[in-house]
Amino acid sequence: MQQFTPAEWQSWERFYRANFINSLTGFKSASLIGTINAQGVPNLGMFSSLVHIGSDPALIGYINRPVAAAPHTLANIKANGFYTVNHIHASFLDKSHQTSAKYTDEVNEFTEVGLTEEYLDGIPAPFVKESAIKYLLSLKEIVPITLNATFLVIGQLEQVLIDPSFQPTADGFLALDQVGSICSNGLDAYYNTSLIDRYAYAKPDKAPEKL
Ligand SMILES: Cc1cc2nc3c(=O)[nH]c(=O)nc-3n(C[C@H](O)[C@H](O)[C@H](O)COP(=O)(O)O)c2cc1C
Repeated sequence: MQQFTPAEWQSWERFYRANFINSLTGFKSASLIGTINAQGVPNLGMFSSLVHIGSDPALIGYINRPVAAAPHTLANIKANGFYTVNHIHASFLDKSHQTSAKYTDEVNEFTEVGLTEEYLDGIPAPFVKESAIKYLLSLKEIVPITLNATFLVIGQLEQVLIDPSFQPTADGFLALDQVGSICSNGLDAYYNTSLIDRYAYAKPDKAPEKL
């Protein structure tokens, strides 16, 4: 095997090192987080660090970069306590990637990139109309990660919106390949997905069983 050591990657050019390290943890979901600021300006951002924390209560986390690098989403979530997570499909990938640009907080990023805001009555958080799977979170906890000044932002699931043309399977599974939700690798590569197989719950005394 080719072996890499800390001394080696510390000697690399910073973008080469970032691409290498960012790809290492593998494919991730990539979603748009929708928020609104205290002045009422909507904000949209690309986030690939979403992580399932628990099913009951349903808790979902994401890692926010240090405030200087990504200030708006975190500030807006703190200001009004609600945010949306919207799956991305290939039909609006260009527009979605563009939300990662550093716009100022007076810019409505929906209008700027050409996506459509959608609201639930009384909820101060914009959904992306074009997205076939989206959900609303309420802020529960922000855990500062002192090692590198990032934050684990944890929200509780409040609403799920799914395009009626797409249904969960009989056992509740969301076959995201069939609705074309994309995933990402590193900070600039996006992929469609295809299912290999689903498996029954693994038990020590049973051979793997395909569903
Ligand atoms: C593919 C991709 C994934 C990203 N994932 C994250 C992430 O998980 N956390 C984060 O803080 N920023 C992430 N970013 C950067 C944000 O999209 C960017 O900082 C954006 O402008 C959000 O900033 P804001 O919160 O100030 O609006 C990602 C960018 C790209 C292109």
